[in-house]
Amino acid sequence: MEKLEQLYEGKAKKVYKTDDPNEFIIEYKDDATAFNGEKKGSIGGKGVINNKMTELIFTMLEKQGIPTHFIKLLSESEQLVKAVTIFPLEVIIRNTAAGSICKRLGLEEGLKLEAPIFEFCYKNDDFGDPMINDYHVIAMKLATKEDIEVIRDMTFKINDILKAYFLEKGINLVDFKIEFGKTADGQIVLADEISPDTCRFWDVKTNEKLDKDRFRRNLGNVEEAYVEMLKRVKA
Ligand code: TMP
Repeated sequence: MEKLEQLYEGKAKKVYKTDDPNEFIIEYKDDATAFNGEKKGSIGGKGVINNKMTELIFTMLEKQGIPTHFIKLLSESEQLVKAVTIFPLEVIIRNTAAGSICKRLGLEEGLKLEAPIFEFCYKNDDFGDPMINDYHVIAMKLATKEDIEVIRDMTFKINDILKAYFLEKGINLVDFKIEFGKTADGQIVLADEISPDTCRFWDVKTNEKLDKDRFRRNLGNVEEAYVEMLKRVKA
């Protein structure tokens, strides 16, 4: 499978057309940004690690009945996926308070939430990915009411699967962001990636952060955290 025209370049990945209109190639980059691109850098080996980790997790989720865009790995930093139209939504689940919710609502970092919190953000860098609700999504035609129901059901199911999966690996899944897309024949599938860029992973015993917060907050040992997470996912 050959990369043709580049369709899109994001902060961490590039997407290419292929000679099959139903398949795209995603190339994972080492580039890292935070705070809507204000902080820029690079995390050595990140592209390879996130490509591999997404393969392992999406394959596991497929086995548990979650449809995804993943088809196969093509190289260390590239994967073949189903061509989808991405909903311009960041879908977030929080199990433990961390990050923006602490700033916004004054919650203490590490507070175990009574129930998972589901959030939508409008995926639009010009406006800093603002949080929106179902009414905005429907009114702005970002997705239909029926799409939202499918996305919400899948997201809670994914949270249940991932929480148990990571707990077995000694990781508390604090929160995560996922994205969904629609195939040409109208199926809603999990898309994008699941990696230390898009989740908060805390060691169960020590609460050590093993995710992109090490980069965002200059905590050091950034590469080591990504390597450790891939090791645990492979175990
Ligand atoms: P937040 O606490 O900064 O809102 O982040 C919530 C989760 O979403 C966290 O696991 C990191 C992830 N995330 C992304 O994947 N991309 C983003 O652009 C942001 C802001 C967060």
